[in-house]
Amino acid sequence: MTDAIRRHDPLVKGFASDNYAGVHPEILQAVALANEGHQIAYGEDVYTQALQEVFRGHFGPSAQAWPVFNGTGANVVALRAMTAPWEAVVCAESAHIHTDEGGAPERSAGLKLLTVPTPDGRLTPELIDTQAWGFGDEHRAQPRVVSITQATELGTLYTPEGVRAICEHAHQLGMLVHLDGARATNAAAALGVPLRAFTTDAGVDVLSFGGTKAGLMFGEAIVVLNPDAVRGLRYLRKNSMQLASKMRFVSVQFEALLAGDLWLRNARNANAMAARLAEAVRRIPGVEVPRAVQANAVFAILPAEVTQRLQKRFRFYTWNEATGEVRWMTAFDTTEADVDTFAAAVAEEMRAQA
Ligand SMILES: Cc1ncc(COP(=O)(O)O)c(C=O)c1O
Repeated sequence: MTDAIRRHDPLVKGFASDNYAGVHPEILQAVALANEGHQIAYGEDVYTQALQEVFRGHFGPSAQAWPVFNGTGANVVALRAMTAPWEAVVCAESAHIHTDEGGAPERSAGLKLLTVPTPDGRLTPELIDTQAWGFGDEHRAQPRVVSITQATELGTLYTPEGVRAICEHAHQLGMLVHLDGARATNAAAALGVPLRAFTTDAGVDVLSFGGTKAGLMFGEAIVVLNPDAVRGLRYLRKNSMQLASKMRFVSVQFEALLAGDLWLRNARNANAMAARLAEAVRRIPGVEVPRAVQANAVFAILPAEVTQRLQKRFRFYTWNEATGEVRWMTAFDTTEADVDTFAAAVAEEMRAQA
């Protein structure tokens, strides 16, 4: 028995973000399984050790997994380990590390980000070249890492070939590739490929692997695919405040997600619900869906008044005030009924507007 009180309505769901969802029941079960008794703290526990094998199964024999608390932490620690103090990271202007991490890469890691405008959140070798220059010039922060996001912040995907082309190009320039995979499971499910197809097999050096959006309570993992790409990760994770003492509870969640097919079931559901939502709202006169819907994000352009009224009924974010673009995210627990109810509300508010 607990003295805690349920303070929310479990039937209410929104489309603001996939991290508004709760924890998948199989993950909660795993946390309970790892509970009771004592285990060595700081990652020397049996769950974290077993997890290495699980990650090697997905990413190949040289993969090393470093559990951390959150995605910002995974990105910052990974990028710190990949760069020297005079080096810089090339990323899309829309990259989470640039737009949504409160300046953590700059503030807590002293990282210089060299940003590139992109049409759809994706970098290409040509776009990378707009910032990958000045090698050997002491006046320019030395481009060292290309950081890409899969699925991107704009809901688009890189094909495995697209990632390979970026990795080959970066490596030719003497650079490394980091992949922010907060939604890597959604990408693999949508592409119908194993997780390693656009990571290990494409030449990515280091990955931030997302757990929270895939159904965990919390927890992400830095996955080192090329051990020569990082220095001091063990020390950097601690002095970046990302070393969990009760790490067994992060690790066992990842085991539950990745040892079987839970990751795929969750990602497939989120993606399918986004496709269903896009199809439904495209049929509503006056609603524009301006971007490709490739994973679990749907972007739409609506009149501002409609957005305001809808936001009183459902949680979601405005992406661009100027254009009226909004973002709707689906999660592992979004149901067809949730989508249909929401699409009906969009249709109703659009009719009221007309
Ligand atoms: C692309 C991307 N990277 C990383 C993160 C992780 O962020 P957090 O620090 O909130 O776990 C997010 C979460 O929104 C994200 O969308």
